[in-house]
Amino acid sequence: MVYLNGEFLPLDQAKVPVMDRGFLFGDGVYEVIPVYSRRPFRLAEHLRRLQGSLAGIRLANPHSDEEWTALIGRIVAEGETDDQSVYIQVSRGPMAVRNHAFPKTVTPTVFVMGEPLHTPPDSQREQGIAAVSAADFRWLRCDLKVTSLLANCLLRQLAIDAGCIETLLFRDGYLSEGAASNIFMVKDGRLLAPPKNHLMLAGITYDVVLEIAAAHGLAHEVRDIREEEVRAADELWMTSSTKEVLPIVTLDGKPVGSGRPGPVFARMYGWYQDFKRDVMRHG
Ligand code: PDD
Repeated sequence: MVYLNGEFLPLDQAKVPVMDRGFLFGDGVYEVIPVYSRRPFRLAEHLRRLQGSLAGIRLANPHSDEEWTALIGRIVAEGETDDQSVYIQVSRGPMAVRNHAFPKTVTPTVFVMGEPLHTPPDSQREQGIAAVSAADFRWLRCDLKVTSLLANCLLRQLAIDAGCIETLLFRDGYLSEGAASNIFMVKDGRLLAPPKNHLMLAGITYDVVLEIAAAHGLAHEVRDIREEEVRAADELWMTSSTKEVLPIVTLDGKPVGSGRPGPVFARMYGWYQDFKRDVMRHG
């Protein structure tokens, strides 16, 4: 069961007109919300980020937070598994003729679906994953979670083509993020993360990792990170709602630190699993 424009219906019956601006222009925004034990994690924060993305593309929010909560609640209740990933998309809806200018009257297309949450296999956590790097050629509003993801797809595909999992992005000599994740580094026992700005998406998992670091007294700092520092890191991690926290053990074919998941990662992973069990699963 998915939700489309006021109706709950089976996925294969959910249809969007070809004149939808989401289809023709990628003119829309989205969210991915992890759900543990049927409890959406940090729903208020996800809805706040959705509101920010909508404001950033000048599209009115079609629903109040209460309405979103009820909608998502129904999708989660009807999902097959207890742990899910809820996808929300709002596009600027259909237009009569193809025209870049916004239609006078906008009827947004609202779509919500739940999928089983597939966290990474144990092997990726135990052995770590391989990454490549590329120049970040995306636009200058990477803080907005927009559906026009072509640049992210092209960049992620570079990793896949190289038999890797993620592509680290550098802009003007600095780390921005991954093609679909945030990136952390560890040097001399200290956790470093790039600051939230227009060059990266403010990940909800990014916030969680920094909060956990603070709660456990792990030295950490949020600041611009130079490419040379990343290439000399003791540890690199990627984070996202669906990948949680994963250690990156090679970058462009060269080992990161020891070339094995590092000790700081091991601690963070343990804390993250405790947090999931004690907090995320309880709402
Ligand atoms: N992507 N940066 C980018 C470019 C992302 O696409 C994502 C997540 C993140 C991490 O955000 P969060 O921790 O809130 O998931 C950072 C989602 C999962 C996706 O596009 O499917």
